[in-house]
Amino acid sequence: MSKLRSVVSKGKGVGQEMVEKAKPKRKKSAPAVKEEKNTNATSLPTYHTFPDPADVVRLRSDLLNWYDKEKRELPWRTLAITESDLNIRTYAVWVSEIMLQQTQVATVIDYYNKWMKRWPTVQDLAAATLEEVNQMWAGLGYYSRGKRLHEGSQKVVSALKGHMPHTVDSLLKQLPGVGRYTAAAIGSIALGQVTGTVDGNVIRVLCRLRAIGADSTSPAVTEALWSIANKLVDPDRPGDFNQAMMELGARVCTPKGPLCSQCPIQTHCHSYSKVHIKQEKNSQKLLGKLDRKPSTLPDIEDCINSGTCTLCPSEPWNDELGVQNFPRKPAKKPPRVERTLTCVVIRAGEGGEDEYLLTQRPNKGLLAGLWEFPSLLLEEKNSDVKQKRALCAEISRILGTKLTESLLQYVGEVVHIFSHIHQTYMVHSVCLRDSDAQMQNENAQWLTRTALQEAAVSTGVKKIVKLCDSVVGAKEQTSKDGKRKKLTDKKNDKKQPTPKKPKLDAAKGGSKQLSLNSFFKTVKEESD
Ligand code: ADE
Repeated sequence: MSKLRSVVSKGKGVGQEMVEKAKPKRKKSAPAVKEEKNTNATSLPTYHTFPDPADVVRLRSDLLNWYDKEKRELPWRTLAITESDLNIRTYAVWVSEIMLQQTQVATVIDYYNKWMKRWPTVQDLAAATLEEVNQMWAGLGYYSRGKRLHEGSQKVVSALKGHMPHTVDSLLKQLPGVGRYTAAAIGSIALGQVTGTVDGNVIRVLCRLRAIGADSTSPAVTEALWSIANKLVDPDRPGDFNQAMMELGARVCTPKGPLCSQCPIQTHCHSYSKVHIKQEKNSQKLLGKLDRKPSTLPDIEDCINSGTCTLCPSEPWNDELGVQNFPRKPAKKPPRVERTLTCVVIRAGEGGEDEYLLTQRPNKGLLAGLWEFPSLLLEEKNSDVKQKRALCAEISRILGTKLTESLLQYVGEVVHIFSHIHQTYMVHSVCLRDSDAQMQNENAQWLTRTALQEAAVSTGVKKIVKLCDSVVGAKEQTSKDGKRKKLTDKKNDKKQPTPKKPKLDAAKGGSKQLSLNSFFKTVKEESD
């Protein structure tokens, strides 16, 4: 057993000791698990809980045995085991949990490794600038997460003397962006605190295990799930248990096409037995009809309070869905549809290298503080001409020199889907010949292609650059084969040729960069 594993495996003791130190008034017998006080698994209908302690013990052991054999080696898991410094371990798990909110494990791995290499301690992160953090976060999405991590690190250094909070309660109270799930995940994984966690994967596993079919976002279901998670969590290995539940949800008990035959806790699963019994009954019915024998199977086990139960499904069982009858979510609101006019403004920089004009978004709201091409949200009520004029006026204001809209060339469309917005960028471009205009605007800058690739820009901006590259590629192709290429680059448009790899990467010293200037009409800026 590794040094840390032996520390963490003392779970409750460690948690209590820390609680005792941080909050001397708390009774030693009460672990720092808020949820335990709010809900009580024993008051829930037994069908939806685990009334038999022997079942709980078996489930823990079935799940952990599977996890020990099947778990993925992930960098934050390795750190949580090998890092003996409690402060660094807590920080490392905090970073991973924030990155993993709304982002797939496979995407997070690279970002996480780079982040931990650059800022291995909370002090290192606190000393970074927000610009550097945004730069590191570029492409990961939900940018406020990086900002909150940064704010949190500065708070830890300035207000907590550099000590990461060491209890679930204090993580929740002290760290911005840390909610109930994240606090419990950090508490159990990094600190060995005995608390369950309930994220999207765990919701699915628990709803299926206990046939909870009411709206999984309702307060009744949420509280019930926390209560069940707290009852199930293994007191000797809380972090591993929670990660095993997540792992099972991510790899076996998946939203679509769950692999029930590979599930280590199949025998505990009410939905699985429901499906199985229903299938058997259906086939017996068929046979029974043929040879007139009565069914030998019991009635399908169900919740005895199903008429009034707040956890039972309100919709009828659908045979075709099988275990996917659980969980049930209310229908998602459709995303807001927006269109944005944007312009890639290019100039030849001092060394002859193309430079791109970027402006910074406000510090609050969507994509806060990130850099983008000058843009204007289109409003239905205004005509396209009027809006193009407005965008031109905005670019002129940034540059301090006048630009007329007839110089803007239409490039194509880029669709980018945020969680709640379906955004279409109407991309234009203009190349400036005389580029010596001095900008007096601290929210705007000229970036070379290399700098742009490393800047704090959103995925939308990266897609716009790709579109421009594919236009250059298409233009080249057109001149070779005489056919025109479609310019629109829709996200899931499989018919589109894959945009060529960016060719303008001067820093890599590769093949000679193909300048967008070579394609777009070069224009002379108009002075006032
Ligand atoms: N999702 C959230 N936390 C996770 C973890 N520690 N491991 C894998 N997936 C996760």
